[in-house]
Amino acid sequence: MLFNLPLAIQTLVSTFLWTAEPSFTDELSPLTFELRHQHGLTNASRIVFSDVKPSAGFAQQNVYRIPRKRMKVSRPPSKEKYAAARKMSMEQGMSMSLDWRDDEVDGPDVSTKDALLQFAHMAFNAYYPDNTTEWYDVGDRGWDRSTPHGWLPGEDGMRGHVFVSSDNSTVVIAIKGTSASWPVGDGGPSTAKDKLNDNLLFSCCCARVGPTWSTVCGCYEGGYKCDQQCVQDSLARQEELFYPIGLHLFNNVSYMYPDANIWLTGHSLGGALSSLIGVTFGAPVVAFEAPAEKLAATRLHLPSPPSTQHVTHFYHTADPIPMGACTGVSSACAIGGFALETRCHLGQVIRLDTVQKLGWTVSVNTHGIKPVIDRILGPNSEWPDEEEVDQPEGGSILSKLWPWPGKDKGGRDNGTKPKVRLLPPPKPAGEVEGVDGVCTDCFSWEFGDYRKPSSKLS
Ligand SMILES: *[C@@H]1O[C@H](CO)[C@@H](O)[C@H](O)[C@H]1NC(C)=O
Ligand SMILES: *[C@@H]1O[C@H](CO)[C@@H](O)[C@H](O)[C@H]1NC(C)=O
Ligand SMILES: *[C@@H]1O[C@H](CO)[C@@H](O)[C@H](O)[C@H]1NC(C)=O
Ligand SMILES: *[C@@H]1O[C@H](CO)[C@@H](O)[C@H](O)[C@H]1NC(C)=O
Ligand SMILES: *[C@@H]1O[C@H](CO)[C@@H](O)[C@H](O)[C@H]1NC(C)=O
Repeated sequence: MLFNLPLAIQTLVSTFLWTAEPSFTDELSPLTFELRHQHGLTNASRIVFSDVKPSAGFAQQNVYRIPRKRMKVSRPPSKEKYAAARKMSMEQGMSMSLDWRDDEVDGPDVSTKDALLQFAHMAFNAYYPDNTTEWYDVGDRGWDRSTPHGWLPGEDGMRGHVFVSSDNSTVVIAIKGTSASWPVGDGGPSTAKDKLNDNLLFSCCCARVGPTWSTVCGCYEGGYKCDQQCVQDSLARQEELFYPIGLHLFNNVSYMYPDANIWLTGHSLGGALSSLIGVTFGAPVVAFEAPAEKLAATRLHLPSPPSTQHVTHFYHTADPIPMGACTGVSSACAIGGFALETRCHLGQVIRLDTVQKLGWTVSVNTHGIKPVIDRILGPNSEWPDEEEVDQPEGGSILSKLWPWPGKDKGGRDNGTKPKVRLLPPPKPAGEVEGVDGVCTDCFSWEFGDYRKPSSKLS
């Protein structure tokens, strides 16, 4: 009978059933995630979903097991108050203090390569749409399947997958990164919307790389001068850009799974968007090789939470994009039409120095999620494992959370250490990327109020 109800109601009913069950377990067990939906964007910037049949090969290849840990997240008192604070900052340049709530949630434990690998696969797969044509949107009155859509697989725009844990307690939204001419994910057409978003979010001044560039906004004032108000307006006021769409996406998914704990992941632009959405809603994030988004958060006037430590960035030093090193007229980025100049991330960072430690050459060819999977996180990892630190009693927390392949009866008792492939622990971004804990973006630029109000962009 449950099956005849609209999916949203089924979810409601089943989540209710699920939460009604008392939980006696202290220890958090890993969760198994299944691919349930795809999300996409119509050419009119409407978010649409499609369901992935559990029996589909696509779904069966996409099952992930992720260990958990408790983590603190900062959440705004309400969406309305958050929006009001953002508006006040945007329109009057005033910051309004918000009563952030410090909540504790079950988040992903990404201290092992294996756990990160699960997310990396999710981020990778977000580049590949299933060939479905059955798209629907989440209307105010439930699920509306009758609307025709202009969305075609392969078009640019925000897209990706929605994974749900088998107990329906937790949802992971995976967001696709930029489809560019270099091997990101696995390639794809070079696309205008992605590029516009990248250049607005991660360049110092409208992607003005050289005199021959056509910029994405007109805020350049000669020399290394840029009009501050103008760059903010060009980013914050455009509803068709991916950040506002990301907010709708998060809201749509939380409408579908009202009681679920939502996590986000993505690679490149998808990772940066995940982070911006995650700091807005206080949701755990795991991002790969994302261009630095701290400046974008400021320019988007996002109210600043007391902590962004629930966001974890993973990247390596041979990738010039998260390093903010893909700059200058002759760089691969500029040749591809991208200006990715920022270098300060939000949250925590796991940065592997593949240049020093593995002798990799700095190149956009290492930016893809595939090299991250094949050469760093997967079974043939070139990165050496960290030593596991002994816990005072009862063995390490990790070995309880993560079932390692060789585990069997007696394995733990005869004194052999379980094999857990550890990485260096995440550190606050400022410590990794800054000087004395402070990271500065675009230091060669001067930002100021160079324009009379009448000549500002409207
Ligand atoms: C989770 O939700 C799906 C669909 O919404 C439902 O079919 C399934 O029975 C639920 N599972 C649990 C354990 O509640
Ligand atoms: C879902 O997203 C659309 C934008 O595509 C938005 O207009 C709508 O309000 C959202 N619905 C919910 C319930 O969040
Ligand atoms: C979609 O893909 C499946 C398997 O890859 C294939 O069997 C099916 O014919 C495809 N459908 C369309 C409409 O292309
Ligand atoms: C969206 O695509 C449909 C057909 O696929 C087209 O008719 C419509 O004009 C497009 N809308 C926009 C806003 O581009
Ligand atoms: C301990 O158990 C593991 C797994 O069963 C086995 O591979 C290993 O040889 C054992 N070590 C000793 C010292 O018995």
